[in-house]
Amino acid sequence: MNCIKVLIVSVLCLLVVVPDTAWATGSTDLYGDSVKVMVKKHLMPTVQPDRIILNLAENPMEAVGINWRTATSEAVSYIEYAVATAGPEFRKIAKRIEAKTSFLSSQQDDEPVIEANYHEGMLTGLEAGQTYVYRVGSEKAWSEWFQFTMPTAEGPLSLIYFGDAQNDVYSMWSRVIREAYFQFPKVDFMLYAGDLINHEDADYEWGGWFEAGSFIHASVPVMMTPGNHEYAKGVFLSKHWRPQFNLPKNGPEGLEEMAYEVNYPHLKVISLDGEQIDEIPEKRMAQVKWLREVLENDPKKWTIVTFHYPIYSTKPNRNNEDMQAYIQPILEEYGVDLVLQGHDHAYARGRVLNVNGQPELGKGPMYVVSVSGPKMYDVANDPWMDRKAYNTQLFQWINIEGDTLSFKALTARGELYDAFQLQKNTKGENTLINQIPNTEERVQE
Ligand SMILES: [Fe+2]
Ligand SMILES: [Fe+2]
Repeated sequence: MNCIKVLIVSVLCLLVVVPDTAWATGSTDLYGDSVKVMVKKHLMPTVQPDRIILNLAENPMEAVGINWRTATSEAVSYIEYAVATAGPEFRKIAKRIEAKTSFLSSQQDDEPVIEANYHEGMLTGLEAGQTYVYRVGSEKAWSEWFQFTMPTAEGPLSLIYFGDAQNDVYSMWSRVIREAYFQFPKVDFMLYAGDLINHEDADYEWGGWFEAGSFIHASVPVMMTPGNHEYAKGVFLSKHWRPQFNLPKNGPEGLEEMAYEVNYPHLKVISLDGEQIDEIPEKRMAQVKWLREVLENDPKKWTIVTFHYPIYSTKPNRNNEDMQAYIQPILEEYGVDLVLQGHDHAYARGRVLNVNGQPELGKGPMYVVSVSGPKMYDVANDPWMDRKAYNTQLFQWINIEGDTLSFKALTARGELYDAFQLQKNTKGENTLINQIPNTEERVQE
Protein backbone atom coordinates (compact mmCIF):
# COMPACT_ATOMS: atom_id res chain seq x y z
CA MET A 1 0.00 0.00 0.00
CA ASN A 2 2.80 2.35 0.97
CA CYS A 3 4.59 1.57 -2.31
CA ILE A 4 1.48 2.46 -4.31
CA LYS A 5 1.17 5.74 -2.35
CA VAL A 6 4.79 6.60 -3.05
CA LEU A 7 4.31 5.79 -6.74
CA ILE A 8 1.20 7.98 -7.03
CA VAL A 9 2.92 10.87 -5.23
CA SER A 10 5.98 10.50 -7.47
CA VAL A 11 3.92 10.56 -10.66
CA LEU A 12 1.99 13.61 -9.42
CA CYS A 13 5.27 15.37 -8.57
CA LEU A 14 6.62 14.68 -12.04
CA LEU A 15 3.47 15.99 -13.65
CA VAL A 16 3.65 19.17 -11.63
CA VAL A 17 7.40 19.76 -11.60
CA VAL A 18 8.75 18.63 -14.96
CA PRO A 19 7.08 21.18 -17.26
CA ASP A 20 8.20 24.00 -14.98
CA THR A 21 11.82 23.04 -14.49
CA ALA A 22 12.86 20.95 -17.45
CA TRP A 23 14.72 23.82 -19.14
CA ALA A 24 15.48 25.90 -16.07
CA THR A 25 17.62 23.67 -13.90
CA GLY A 26 21.26 24.50 -13.26
CA SER A 27 20.98 28.14 -14.35
CA THR A 28 21.55 29.79 -11.03
CA ASP A 29 23.48 33.02 -11.26
CA LEU A 30 26.46 34.09 -9.15
CA TYR A 31 24.49 35.36 -6.17
CA GLY A 32 21.73 32.79 -6.29
CA ASP A 33 18.98 34.31 -8.42
CA SER A 34 16.66 31.44 -9.14
CA VAL A 35 16.03 31.36 -12.86
CA LYS A 36 12.72 29.60 -12.32
CA VAL A 37 11.42 32.42 -10.14
CA MET A 38 12.79 35.03 -12.52
CA VAL A 39 11.12 33.40 -15.49
CA LYS A 40 7.74 33.25 -13.83
CA LYS A 41 7.96 36.89 -12.87
CA HIS A 42 9.57 38.43 -15.92
CA LEU A 43 9.38 36.31 -19.00
CA MET A 44 6.07 35.73 -20.68
CA PRO A 45 4.41 38.57 -22.58
CA THR A 46 0.67 39.07 -22.12
CA VAL A 47 -2.04 41.37 -23.47
CA GLN A 48 -1.01 43.84 -20.78
CA PRO A 49 1.89 46.03 -22.01
CA ASP A 50 5.15 45.54 -20.12
CA ARG A 51 8.84 46.54 -20.47
CA ILE A 52 7.76 50.13 -21.07
CA ILE A 53 10.63 52.54 -21.58
CA LEU A 54 11.25 56.16 -22.56
CA ASN A 55 14.31 56.70 -24.77
CA LEU A 56 16.20 59.89 -25.60
CA ALA A 57 15.57 61.19 -29.10
CA GLU A 58 18.30 62.86 -31.15
CA ASN A 59 16.65 66.17 -30.27
CA PRO A 60 15.56 65.53 -26.70
CA MET A 61 14.20 69.08 -26.35
CA GLU A 62 11.17 68.25 -28.49
CA ALA A 63 10.81 64.47 -28.85
CA VAL A 64 10.92 61.26 -26.86
CA GLY A 65 10.77 57.60 -27.93
CA ILE A 66 8.52 55.06 -26.23
CA ASN A 67 8.79 51.27 -26.49
CA TRP A 68 6.87 48.40 -24.90
CA ARG A 69 6.08 44.71 -25.31
CA THR A 70 2.95 42.59 -25.53
CA ALA A 71 1.89 39.09 -26.48
CA THR A 72 1.77 38.38 -30.22
CA SER A 73 -2.03 38.58 -30.05
CA GLU A 74 -1.60 42.39 -29.96
CA ALA A 75 -0.82 43.25 -33.58
CA VAL A 76 -1.93 46.86 -33.10
CA SER A 77 -0.99 48.98 -30.11
CA TYR A 78 -1.18 52.71 -29.36
CA ILE A 79 0.32 55.56 -27.41
CA GLU A 80 -2.10 58.07 -25.92
CA TYR A 81 -0.56 61.29 -24.62
CA ALA A 82 -1.47 64.76 -23.43
CA VAL A 83 -0.14 67.74 -21.56
CA ALA A 84 -0.56 66.77 -17.91
CA THR A 85 -3.30 68.55 -15.98
CA ALA A 86 -3.67 68.91 -12.23
CA GLY A 87 -6.79 66.74 -12.37
CA PRO A 88 -7.94 63.84 -14.54
CA GLU A 89 -9.28 66.04 -17.37
CA PHE A 90 -6.21 65.41 -19.58
CA ARG A 91 -7.94 62.17 -20.63
CA LYS A 92 -10.43 64.20 -22.68
CA ILE A 93 -7.72 65.86 -24.76
CA ALA A 94 -5.33 62.93 -25.17
CA LYS A 95 -4.07 62.29 -28.70
CA ARG A 96 -3.54 58.78 -29.99
CA ILE A 97 -0.80 57.49 -32.30
CA GLU A 98 -0.41 53.98 -33.61
CA ALA A 99 2.84 52.17 -32.84
CA LYS A 100 5.19 50.49 -35.24
CA THR A 101 5.14 46.81 -34.30
CA SER A 102 7.79 44.15 -34.80
CA PHE A 103 7.79 40.46 -33.93
CA LEU A 104 10.67 38.96 -31.96
CA SER A 105 11.31 35.30 -31.40
CA SER A 106 14.23 34.73 -29.06
CA GLN A 107 15.79 31.81 -27.30
CA GLN A 108 19.01 31.47 -25.36
CA ASP A 109 20.66 28.56 -23.59
CA ASP A 110 18.03 26.55 -21.72
CA GLU A 111 15.26 29.13 -21.97
CA PRO A 112 12.12 28.30 -23.93
CA VAL A 113 11.46 30.14 -27.19
CA ILE A 114 9.85 33.47 -26.30
CA GLU A 115 7.67 35.12 -28.93
CA ALA A 116 6.51 38.68 -28.41
CA ASN A 117 5.42 41.80 -30.23
CA TYR A 118 7.51 44.90 -29.57
CA HIS A 119 5.93 48.28 -30.21
CA GLU A 120 7.55 51.68 -30.63
CA GLY A 121 6.46 55.24 -31.18
CA MET A 122 7.95 58.71 -31.08
CA LEU A 123 6.25 61.71 -29.51
CA THR A 124 7.35 64.81 -31.42
CA GLY A 125 6.63 68.52 -31.27
CA LEU A 126 6.86 68.52 -27.48
CA GLU A 127 7.45 71.78 -25.61
CA ALA A 128 10.55 72.47 -23.54
CA GLY A 129 9.77 72.50 -19.83
CA GLN A 130 6.29 71.04 -20.29
CA THR A 131 4.96 68.04 -18.30
CA TYR A 132 3.22 65.28 -20.25
CA VAL A 133 1.33 62.07 -19.50
CA TYR A 134 1.13 58.98 -21.68
CA ARG A 135 -0.08 55.40 -21.63
CA VAL A 136 0.41 52.49 -24.04
CA GLY A 137 -1.74 49.55 -25.15
CA SER A 138 -5.25 49.32 -26.53
CA GLU A 139 -8.84 49.06 -25.31
CA LYS A 140 -8.08 45.46 -24.33
CA ALA A 141 -5.44 46.53 -21.83
CA TRP A 142 -3.80 49.87 -21.14
CA SER A 143 -0.78 50.64 -19.02
CA GLU A 144 -1.10 53.19 -16.25
CA TRP A 145 -0.55 56.85 -17.22
CA PHE A 146 3.11 57.75 -16.83
CA GLN A 147 4.31 61.34 -16.40
CA PHE A 148 7.50 63.05 -17.56
CA THR A 149 8.83 66.59 -17.86
CA MET A 150 10.80 67.95 -20.81
CA PRO A 151 14.08 69.81 -20.17
CA THR A 152 14.32 73.59 -20.51
CA ALA A 153 16.69 75.31 -22.92
CA GLU A 154 18.37 77.34 -20.20
CA GLY A 155 19.00 74.30 -17.96
CA PRO A 156 20.33 73.08 -15.63
CA LEU A 157 20.57 69.64 -17.16
CA SER A 158 21.27 66.51 -15.16
CA LEU A 159 21.72 62.80 -15.66
CA ILE A 160 22.47 59.59 -13.81
CA TYR A 161 25.24 57.37 -15.22
CA PHE A 162 25.45 53.66 -14.46
CA GLY A 163 28.35 51.29 -15.13
CA ASP A 164 27.66 47.59 -15.74
CA ALA A 165 24.51 46.23 -14.05
CA GLN A 166 24.97 42.87 -15.80
CA ASN A 167 24.65 40.15 -13.13
CA ASP A 168 21.78 39.29 -10.80
CA VAL A 169 20.20 42.45 -12.08
CA TYR A 170 16.80 41.95 -10.51
CA SER A 171 17.99 40.83 -7.09
CA MET A 172 21.18 42.88 -6.69
CA TRP A 173 21.02 45.90 -9.02
CA SER A 174 17.42 47.00 -8.37
CA ARG A 175 18.40 48.77 -5.13
CA VAL A 176 20.97 50.86 -7.03
CA ILE A 177 18.61 52.31 -9.64
CA ARG A 178 15.97 52.82 -6.95
CA GLU A 179 18.41 54.63 -4.63
CA ALA A 180 19.53 56.77 -7.59
CA TYR A 181 15.90 57.69 -8.20
CA PHE A 182 15.23 58.41 -4.50
CA GLN A 183 18.27 60.69 -4.38
CA PHE A 184 17.78 62.44 -7.75
CA PRO A 185 14.19 61.93 -8.97
CA LYS A 186 14.20 64.94 -11.29
CA VAL A 187 17.13 64.14 -13.58
CA ASP A 188 16.64 64.71 -17.31
CA PHE A 189 17.93 61.30 -18.35
CA MET A 190 19.76 58.14 -17.33
CA LEU A 191 22.77 56.73 -19.20
CA TYR A 192 24.02 53.13 -19.28
CA ALA A 193 27.62 52.41 -20.33
CA GLY A 194 26.91 48.85 -21.55
CA ASP A 195 26.61 45.32 -20.11
CA LEU A 196 23.08 45.97 -18.88
CA ILE A 197 22.63 42.19 -18.72
CA ASN A 198 24.92 39.14 -18.89
CA HIS A 199 23.65 37.04 -21.83
CA GLU A 200 22.62 39.08 -24.84
CA ASP A 201 19.32 37.36 -25.57
CA ALA A 202 18.42 35.86 -22.20
CA ASP A 203 14.87 37.14 -22.06
CA TYR A 204 14.55 36.63 -18.31
CA GLU A 205 17.62 38.83 -17.78
CA TRP A 206 16.09 41.65 -19.83
CA GLY A 207 12.89 41.08 -17.87
CA GLY A 208 14.85 41.43 -14.64
CA TRP A 209 16.39 44.69 -15.87
CA PHE A 210 12.94 46.11 -16.69
CA GLU A 211 11.47 44.89 -13.41
CA ALA A 212 14.33 46.42 -11.41
CA GLY A 213 13.72 49.87 -12.93
CA SER A 214 9.96 49.45 -13.27
CA PHE A 215 8.21 52.82 -13.63
CA ILE A 216 11.56 54.66 -13.49
CA HIS A 217 12.41 53.37 -17.01
CA ALA A 218 8.99 54.58 -18.18
CA SER A 219 9.29 58.02 -16.57
CA VAL A 220 12.91 59.16 -17.03
CA PRO A 221 14.31 59.00 -20.59
CA VAL A 222 17.19 56.62 -21.05
CA MET A 223 20.16 56.21 -23.39
CA MET A 224 22.46 53.21 -23.48
CA THR A 225 25.58 52.12 -25.31
CA PRO A 226 26.09 48.41 -25.99
CA GLY A 227 28.72 46.41 -24.11
CA ASN A 228 30.31 43.11 -25.04
CA HIS A 229 27.56 41.27 -23.14
CA GLU A 230 24.99 42.73 -25.53
CA TYR A 231 26.83 40.84 -28.28
CA ALA A 232 27.13 37.18 -29.21
CA LYS A 233 30.62 36.12 -30.27
CA GLY A 234 31.63 39.77 -30.47
CA VAL A 235 29.73 40.46 -33.69
CA PHE A 236 26.02 39.63 -33.34
CA LEU A 237 24.08 42.35 -31.52
CA SER A 238 21.38 41.18 -29.08
CA LYS A 239 18.17 40.62 -31.01
CA HIS A 240 16.40 42.47 -28.19
CA TRP A 241 18.35 45.72 -28.60
CA ARG A 242 16.56 47.40 -31.50
CA PRO A 243 13.00 46.16 -30.85
CA GLN A 244 13.02 47.07 -27.17
CA PHE A 245 14.90 50.38 -27.39
CA ASN A 246 14.25 53.44 -29.50
CA LEU A 247 17.61 55.17 -29.82
CA PRO A 248 18.78 57.69 -32.44
CA LYS A 249 19.64 56.44 -35.92
CA ASN A 250 21.99 59.32 -36.73
CA GLY A 251 25.29 57.43 -36.50
CA PRO A 252 27.30 55.59 -39.16
CA GLU A 253 25.40 53.27 -41.47
CA GLY A 254 24.88 49.84 -39.95
CA LEU A 255 25.48 51.18 -36.42
CA GLU A 256 22.07 52.78 -35.95
CA GLU A 257 21.00 52.82 -32.28
CA MET A 258 24.51 51.79 -31.17
CA ALA A 259 26.66 54.73 -32.32
CA TYR A 260 24.64 57.96 -32.24
CA GLU A 261 24.47 61.50 -30.90
CA VAL A 262 21.99 63.34 -28.72
CA ASN A 263 22.00 67.14 -28.76
CA TYR A 264 20.84 69.50 -26.03
CA PRO A 265 21.41 73.25 -26.49
CA HIS A 266 24.66 73.18 -24.47
CA LEU A 267 25.49 69.46 -24.31
CA LYS A 268 26.28 66.83 -26.89
CA VAL A 269 26.25 63.19 -25.76
CA ILE A 270 27.80 60.62 -28.08
CA SER A 271 27.55 56.85 -27.87
CA LEU A 272 30.20 54.74 -29.61
CA ASP A 273 29.85 51.00 -30.07
CA GLY A 274 32.99 49.78 -28.28
CA GLU A 275 32.51 46.16 -29.28
CA GLN A 276 32.56 46.98 -32.98
CA ILE A 277 35.57 49.24 -32.52
CA ASP A 278 37.29 46.27 -30.92
CA GLU A 279 36.13 43.53 -33.27
CA ILE A 280 35.40 44.83 -36.75
CA PRO A 281 38.00 47.06 -38.48
CA GLU A 282 35.59 48.63 -40.99
CA LYS A 283 33.06 49.44 -38.24
CA ARG A 284 35.91 50.87 -36.18
CA MET A 285 37.03 53.16 -39.00
CA ALA A 286 33.44 54.20 -39.78
CA GLN A 287 33.07 55.33 -36.17
CA VAL A 288 36.44 57.11 -36.16
CA LYS A 289 35.42 59.10 -39.26
CA TRP A 290 31.93 59.83 -37.94
CA LEU A 291 33.15 60.88 -34.49
CA ARG A 292 35.58 63.37 -36.00
CA GLU A 293 32.86 64.84 -38.25
CA VAL A 294 30.39 65.14 -35.39
CA LEU A 295 32.85 66.90 -33.11
CA GLU A 296 34.05 69.16 -35.92
CA ASN A 297 30.66 70.30 -37.20
CA ASP A 298 28.31 70.94 -34.31
CA PRO A 299 30.27 71.76 -31.18
CA LYS A 300 28.45 72.39 -27.91
CA LYS A 301 29.80 73.95 -24.77
CA TRP A 302 29.91 70.51 -23.12
CA THR A 303 30.61 67.12 -24.70
CA ILE A 304 30.20 63.73 -23.04
CA VAL A 305 31.22 60.55 -24.86
CA THR A 306 30.21 57.09 -23.66
CA PHE A 307 31.43 53.65 -24.71
CA HIS A 308 31.93 50.37 -22.95
CA TYR A 309 35.66 49.57 -23.15
CA PRO A 310 37.73 52.01 -21.07
CA ILE A 311 40.64 53.92 -22.55
CA TYR A 312 42.41 53.48 -19.19
CA SER A 313 41.41 50.33 -17.37
CA THR A 314 40.83 50.07 -13.64
CA LYS A 315 42.11 46.51 -13.74
CA PRO A 316 45.84 45.79 -14.03
CA ASN A 317 47.00 45.03 -17.61
CA ARG A 318 43.60 45.53 -19.21
CA ASN A 319 43.96 48.82 -21.14
CA ASN A 320 42.19 48.76 -24.48
CA GLU A 321 44.79 49.44 -27.14
CA ASP A 322 42.33 49.98 -29.98
CA MET A 323 40.46 52.58 -27.94
CA GLN A 324 43.77 54.31 -27.11
CA ALA A 325 45.03 54.18 -30.69
CA TYR A 326 41.88 55.22 -32.56
CA ILE A 327 39.52 57.03 -30.18
CA GLN A 328 41.67 58.77 -27.56
CA PRO A 329 43.42 61.14 -30.03
CA ILE A 330 40.03 62.43 -31.25
CA LEU A 331 38.71 62.93 -27.72
CA GLU A 332 41.83 64.96 -26.95
CA GLU A 333 41.90 66.94 -30.20
CA TYR A 334 38.31 68.14 -29.75
CA GLY A 335 38.54 68.67 -26.00
CA VAL A 336 35.86 66.18 -24.95
CA ASP A 337 35.05 66.98 -21.34
CA LEU A 338 33.92 63.69 -19.87
CA VAL A 339 34.18 60.03 -20.93
CA LEU A 340 31.79 57.54 -19.29
CA GLN A 341 32.83 53.89 -19.50
CA GLY A 342 32.15 50.44 -18.02
CA HIS A 343 33.46 46.89 -18.46
CA ASP A 344 35.97 46.77 -15.61
CA HIS A 345 33.63 46.19 -12.64
CA ALA A 346 35.36 48.73 -10.39
CA TYR A 347 35.47 52.53 -10.05
CA ALA A 348 38.14 55.06 -10.93
CA ARG A 349 38.35 58.49 -12.48
CA GLY A 350 40.98 61.01 -13.45
CA ARG A 351 42.19 63.32 -16.24
CA VAL A 352 44.83 62.16 -18.67
CA LEU A 353 46.39 63.82 -21.73
CA ASN A 354 48.61 61.72 -23.95
CA VAL A 355 51.64 63.86 -24.89
CA ASN A 356 54.04 62.15 -27.33
CA GLY A 357 53.09 58.75 -25.98
CA GLN A 358 53.50 59.81 -22.35
CA PRO A 359 50.41 60.30 -20.18
CA GLU A 360 50.30 63.75 -18.61
CA LEU A 361 48.03 63.71 -15.60
CA GLY A 362 45.52 66.35 -14.52
CA LYS A 363 44.89 67.54 -18.11
CA GLY A 364 42.71 66.35 -20.97
CA PRO A 365 39.38 64.53 -20.85
CA MET A 366 38.07 63.26 -17.51
CA TYR A 367 37.84 59.47 -17.79
CA VAL A 368 35.44 57.57 -15.52
CA VAL A 369 34.95 53.82 -15.15
CA SER A 370 32.15 52.62 -12.90
CA VAL A 371 30.07 49.59 -11.95
CA SER A 372 26.52 49.41 -10.61
CA GLY A 373 25.91 45.65 -10.38
CA PRO A 374 27.40 43.08 -7.97
CA LYS A 375 30.17 41.54 -10.12
CA MET A 376 33.54 42.94 -8.98
CA TYR A 377 37.11 42.92 -10.30
CA ASP A 378 40.33 44.03 -8.63
CA VAL A 379 41.26 47.68 -8.97
CA ALA A 380 44.80 48.77 -9.80
CA ASN A 381 46.64 51.58 -8.06
CA ASP A 382 47.54 53.72 -11.07
CA PRO A 383 48.76 57.34 -11.04
CA TRP A 384 45.87 58.62 -13.23
CA MET A 385 43.26 57.70 -10.62
CA ASP A 386 42.21 60.66 -8.47
CA ARG A 387 39.76 58.37 -6.69
CA LYS A 388 39.08 54.64 -7.03
CA ALA A 389 36.92 51.96 -5.44
CA TYR A 390 36.92 48.18 -5.19
CA ASN A 391 33.87 46.04 -4.45
CA THR A 392 31.47 48.99 -4.47
CA GLN A 393 28.17 49.38 -6.33
CA LEU A 394 27.86 52.98 -7.44
CA PHE A 395 25.76 55.42 -9.43
CA GLN A 396 26.82 58.87 -10.64
CA TRP A 397 24.91 62.14 -10.81
CA ILE A 398 26.12 64.71 -13.33
CA ASN A 399 24.77 68.25 -13.52
CA ILE A 400 25.53 70.89 -16.13
CA GLU A 401 24.75 74.50 -15.39
CA GLY A 402 26.37 77.28 -17.40
CA ASP A 403 30.16 76.96 -17.17
CA THR A 404 30.10 74.30 -14.45
CA LEU A 405 29.85 70.54 -14.71
CA SER A 406 29.32 68.89 -11.31
CA PHE A 407 29.86 65.17 -10.76
CA LYS A 408 29.03 63.03 -7.74
CA ALA A 409 29.51 59.28 -7.34
CA LEU A 410 27.34 57.70 -4.65
CA THR A 411 27.42 54.17 -3.29
CA ALA A 412 24.43 51.83 -3.30
CA ARG A 413 23.80 53.10 0.26
CA GLY A 414 23.29 56.60 -1.14
CA GLU A 415 26.50 57.91 0.46
CA LEU A 416 28.79 60.34 -1.37
CA TYR A 417 31.97 58.53 -2.44
CA ASP A 418 33.55 60.92 -4.94
CA ALA A 419 32.89 64.39 -6.36
CA PHE A 420 34.48 67.00 -8.58
CA GLN A 421 33.61 70.00 -10.71
CA LEU A 422 34.89 71.11 -14.09
CA GLN A 423 34.86 74.89 -14.57
CA LYS A 424 35.04 75.99 -18.19
CA ASN A 425 36.76 79.25 -19.14
CA THR A 426 36.09 81.42 -22.20
CA LYS A 427 38.67 79.47 -24.25
CA GLY A 428 36.81 76.24 -23.54
CA GLU A 429 39.47 74.95 -21.15
CA ASN A 430 38.46 73.15 -17.98
CA THR A 431 39.76 73.64 -14.47
CA LEU A 432 39.29 70.64 -12.22
CA ILE A 433 38.08 71.19 -8.66
CA ASN A 434 38.33 67.97 -6.69
CA GLN A 435 35.73 67.59 -3.95
CA ILE A 436 36.62 64.10 -2.76
CA PRO A 437 34.93 63.39 0.57
CA ASN A 438 37.17 62.71 3.51
CA THR A 439 36.32 59.02 3.69
CA GLU A 440 38.58 56.03 3.25
CA GLU A 441 39.17 54.67 -0.20
CA ARG A 442 37.64 51.23 -0.67
CA VAL A 443 40.51 49.09 -1.99
CA GLN A 444 41.19 45.38 -1.73
CA GLU A 445 43.39 44.24 1.18
FE1 LIG B 1 30.80 43.80 -17.67
FE1 LIG C 1 32.01 44.28 -20.56
